[in-house]
Amino acid sequence: MKAAIMGYGVVGSGVGKILRENADIIAAKLEEPIEIKYVLDLRDFPGDALEDKLTKNFEDILNDDEVKLVCEAMGGTKPAYDFTKRLLEAGKHVVSSNKELVATYGFELLNAAKKANVNYLFEASVGGGVPILRPLWQCLAGNHIKKVYGILNGTTNFILTKMYNEDMPFEQALALAQELGYAEKDPSADIAGADVCRKTCILASISYGKHIDPAQVQTQGIEDIQIRDVAYAKANGYEIKLLGYCEKLESGKIDAIVSPFFVPKENQIATVSDVFNGIVVVGDMVDEVFFYGRGAGSLPTASACVGDMIDCAMHADKRKNFGWGARDKDFVENHSACQSRYYVRGTGDINAVKKALGEVAFLSLQGAPLDEVVFLTEAAQESELDARLAAIENFQIEAKIRVLT
Ligand code: HSE
Repeated sequence: MKAAIMGYGVVGSGVGKILRENADIIAAKLEEPIEIKYVLDLRDFPGDALEDKLTKNFEDILNDDEVKLVCEAMGGTKPAYDFTKRLLEAGKHVVSSNKELVATYGFELLNAAKKANVNYLFEASVGGGVPILRPLWQCLAGNHIKKVYGILNGTTNFILTKMYNEDMPFEQALALAQELGYAEKDPSADIAGADVCRKTCILASISYGKHIDPAQVQTQGIEDIQIRDVAYAKANGYEIKLLGYCEKLESGKIDAIVSPFFVPKENQIATVSDVFNGIVVVGDMVDEVFFYGRGAGSLPTASACVGDMIDCAMHADKRKNFGWGARDKDFVENHSACQSRYYVRGTGDINAVKKALGEVAFLSLQGAPLDEVVFLTEAAQESELDARLAAIENFQIEAKIRVLT
């Protein structure tokens, strides 16, 4: 089958490499190879194995009837949305690693694929090389998904691991993640949580059947994590992880949030370090399932793209019934109305805290100043907890972080 790659950066070049190096097993599965006819990129790649396939003109791919399959690894929504829509409308299968595009326009693009009876698949958009979307959609299809949460960003997990294990300063760890090709072009999308938010939206859309927009998900990154809180986590049996979290509520709505969490060491998520991603799915029948692997980087992410390309080639004449329904602006509950436990660090009088909050679980740290008061709350609505904390006399809050339960 003739194919094209759009975007020849970290992921696109990885796709080219896998199709070359593993051509034998791919051809054996499909009884024909996947052959790259075009690579779309504005840059030149002198000496590259696919140099002679390079084009700067999208229309070359769109108008070539021989090309039935396209891997979009451009990133961003412009011009990726327009290109993808036109390719699908022209009857070409498209696979993508572009989480921003899927989280923003997934519903529209899945509809365009449905109308044209072609596939739009994007396994690489969440978890890099970790298979998670296909298992959620196919293998766990007989379950109501109660919860799905996890570490979805390699860069921030890498940074937090370096801070936690090696006391490495934040900036140095970020520079290392950029050097290794994990970070987004603009790493603020990693650090401030936007990348996790997009992936969380895709997980929630697949799990709960309606398109969840990034604007519906309250998002907080790792910028405010202090080394002092890392020390308290270490001393008291917790890791600090940036999680994307979704849960089906009894009301029928969902709770979806991106935030740093104190994660108890016993939870499998606590064992996920460096660039690795880990995702827990809780289904009403299967109970808990855990997915783990490399969440970023060229070949792991390209591995997921190539898996989708093979799937498209295997189902070239038949669209897989894959996707979700339209947006519903009331489907995501306001997070401050949802219950959560919190880690709180502040300065003040411990007796005033006890009087206001009752028997919370106080945490200790060797050598801590006498007026440092640190504790884990019971589960409470954030708005209600904030009001009670604000009412404590002479108590200054320095940090407040969710606790995974
Ligand atoms: N910047 C992303 C990460 C790349 O660090 O996880 C993979 O989506």
